[in-house]
Amino acid sequence: MSPTRPIFHRKALAEALVRDLAGESFADYSSGMFLAAPRRTGKSTFLRSDLAPECEARGWLPVYVDLWENREVDPAELIAGAIGQALSEFDSVARKTAKKAGVEKINLLRTLSWDFSKPQLPAGTSLSKALDVLHQVCGKLVVLIVDEAQHALNSESGVNTMFALKAARDHLNRGGSSPDALRLVFTGSSRDKLANLVLKSKQPFYGAHITPFPLLGRDFVEFLTGVWNARLADTNQFSADDMEYAFGLVGRRPEMLNALLTEVSVGLGEASNLGDLLRTGVLNHQAGVWSDYESAYNDLSPLQQAVLEVMGERVMRKQPFTPFAEQTFKDVNRKLELAGAEANASTPNVQKALDVLREKELVWKASRGEYALEDSGIAEWLTRQEKREQ
Ligand SMILES: Nc1ncnc2c1ncn2[C@@H]1O[C@H](COP(=O)(O)OP(=O)(O)OP(=O)(O)O)[C@@H](O)[C@H]1O
Ligand SMILES: [Mg+2]
Repeated sequence: MSPTRPIFHRKALAEALVRDLAGESFADYSSGMFLAAPRRTGKSTFLRSDLAPECEARGWLPVYVDLWENREVDPAELIAGAIGQALSEFDSVARKTAKKAGVEKINLLRTLSWDFSKPQLPAGTSLSKALDVLHQVCGKLVVLIVDEAQHALNSESGVNTMFALKAARDHLNRGGSSPDALRLVFTGSSRDKLANLVLKSKQPFYGAHITPFPLLGRDFVEFLTGVWNARLADTNQFSADDMEYAFGLVGRRPEMLNALLTEVSVGLGEASNLGDLLRTGVLNHQAGVWSDYESAYNDLSPLQQAVLEVMGERVMRKQPFTPFAEQTFKDVNRKLELAGAEANASTPNVQKALDVLREKELVWKASRGEYALEDSGIAEWLTRQEKREQ
């Protein structure tokens, strides 16, 4: 059985974040809101189904762009394209209005000389100017939501776009036509990666804080239990406690939980046995759910595995990863010895290992040189592995 997947709405969370953006709470997000949560935990779903509608309800204009939507396209173009798309919608509305207001708006839009059929900003037009015009024609606070924002750091033009957004924020919120014209929301699946936008003084959003995006909670688990149980016989029901336990095991990822539930209801037995199946290992959740990590890991050389494990440990301990530090070599060598391999960590071979890890998209390097895990979920998986081996 595989029920269609209804969305669980997180209205209270959306309302709270909107209040934060409005400056009604203690938190100050006027320089930008940075939300981080691991992969597949529901960030994009929340932004599109809850946060954007809540911004609209508040009378704001949300503009959403996912930098991962098309990896072939430069993030700079994607961001400019999303703003262009929003402008073009006002362009066509303004054209339909014969009234004076319509003409004024068209004139305003014309100052951009933007060809709305193309996703690029015309040469010489800054994002700041485009966002300013957008704010003026819509007459609302513009909330630019950049999903997977860390991808902007992969290219020089992406980094420049981030600086341009910062300039736009400063221009619009201080000197612009009204004091409160633009809010920026950035999300990312790696806290380490997002940190590259805010941690150093040379980075565009230096000084902003990264907020952990709340993972789906017990309320989601209860919602999902209801969805599944409604389709099962009265005598064959999942218990919310077992579901909660399973959801925790899979790092609070809805798809992985659904995969487990499908496995149970398709063949492994009664829904009420879910907890037992998980606890006794009959339901081989690790094999099914973590299999991507496992096969990626098994394809690596001992040195690459050791480097990845050390990175994972740093993530779990919230420490920075310094690839060529003496301590890193020591830790890598210790892992190599444990694996019965030659303990030969050195700058050139750790560098080579990192290059391979990057090619395999397990590790990521900011254009300014810092390394981070592509998906922090792998750090959890590595920790579990280690515990099992002890
Ligand atoms: N509130 C929700 N209700 C029901 N299902 C959800 C909810 N949030 C997420 N999901 C499901 O979880 C999966 C991952 O969601 P989503 O793509 O939003 O996560 P993400 O964190 O943006 O992932 P990625 O890191 O790949 O960008 C999807 O299959 C989605 O349908
Ligand atoms: Mg996403």
